[in-house]
Amino acid sequence: MAPTADNVVVSSMKLERMLSMKGGKGEASYANNSQAQAQHARSMLHLLEETLDGVQLDSPEIPFVVADLGCSCGTNTIYIVDVIIKHMIKRYEASGYVDPPEFSAFFSDLPSNDFNTLFQLLPPLASNGGGSMEECLAANGHRPYFAAGVPGSFYRRLFPARSIDVFYSAFSLHWLSQVPEMVLDKRSTAYNKGRVFIHGANESTANAYRKQFQGDLAKFLRSRSQEMKRGGSMFLVCLGRTSVDPTDQGGAGLLFGTHFQDAWNDLVQEGLIASEKRDNFNIPVYAPSIQDFKEVVEADGSFAINKLEVFKGGSPLVVNCPDDAIEVGRALANSCRAVSGVLVDAHIGDWLSEELFSRVESRASSHAKELLEQLQFFHIVASLSLA
Ligand SMILES: C[S@@+](CC[C@H](N)C(=O)[O-])C[C@H]1O[C@@H](n2cnc3c(N)ncnc32)[C@H](O)[C@@H]1O
Repeated sequence: MAPTADNVVVSSMKLERMLSMKGGKGEASYANNSQAQAQHARSMLHLLEETLDGVQLDSPEIPFVVADLGCSCGTNTIYIVDVIIKHMIKRYEASGYVDPPEFSAFFSDLPSNDFNTLFQLLPPLASNGGGSMEECLAANGHRPYFAAGVPGSFYRRLFPARSIDVFYSAFSLHWLSQVPEMVLDKRSTAYNKGRVFIHGANESTANAYRKQFQGDLAKFLRSRSQEMKRGGSMFLVCLGRTSVDPTDQGGAGLLFGTHFQDAWNDLVQEGLIASEKRDNFNIPVYAPSIQDFKEVVEADGSFAINKLEVFKGGSPLVVNCPDDAIEVGRALANSCRAVSGVLVDAHIGDWLSEELFSRVESRASSHAKELLEQLQFFHIVASLSLA
């Protein structure tokens, strides 16, 4: 049954069956609102390349396999997979191999991801995919790898054991597998009354989120440790924070804890929704600190940490005219909608969702200057290989 406003209770819903970024190519789609992620990923390419330099080269007779986890449906994943494979082709060349191996790339995301849009964006396969290095590198506008989509949650197994050389995942691991149940339980001290996110929430609410994040990350690592080939590497980027206090969610806090939060309050005050309806909605995102992340990798013990740092990504808002408050407000509303719109639609229905995001837009327009000055994303960047 398709989720509707009535049959969705965030605690018990199978988030993984419904979560996706806004599909298609419309104004609020992820494909059209992920330029900031593209820019942030490009500013970290040197770190990705360092990770790739640590990958062990097998004989070129064995296919080289890359997987992007949480690939979504825009061009960012295609760009990154291309960077990874071209870098590896150069490494094979520098190591004196005459021909590179055949490459394959798995684009993985939850089943509700818009794989159709993604597949339509994929360039055609270069003839003799995995042919000579010269062919692969010269085949501009073509991809030098076989491609496949893999639906499923990265918090479980996705691939056969020892089958993947490089795992990449960007801007995805801060999505929790679910909103912690206590956060939606009125009897619990972690009940997030009056809020839709943990930014500025009470300590127990934030701790419930932290526990959920750490449990989810542990499951992610356990699965990857089985799937990664010996000598493989993993490059992970997710939203992070610089504060030790989890109730200060940094850039994610400003995105979901200010104008978005106020817009939900508007709907309540205007009598469009009951306050409980708002309180039952929580964004299943947690921006960890380095410490939150490190504790899990160390407790798991399967991976050696080659690099773990907080990286200043910059603003999530990409605008043509920074002085145009309307454009800034729209950019904030669209960024917010591209990533949370599907969940909001399911919780309150399309019409109220439209009302909500128009309030986000007008509130953000009235604070355009400070948004441009203050809204900054920090990312946790981790480069891991099997211990
Ligand atoms: C902001 S998008 C990132 C897209 C892309 N990596 C990029 O760089 O633009 C986050 C993606 O993570 C996916 N995601 C969230 N939870 C997931 C899970 N448990 N398993 C797989 N994918 C998940 C979402 O569906 C979404 O497509």
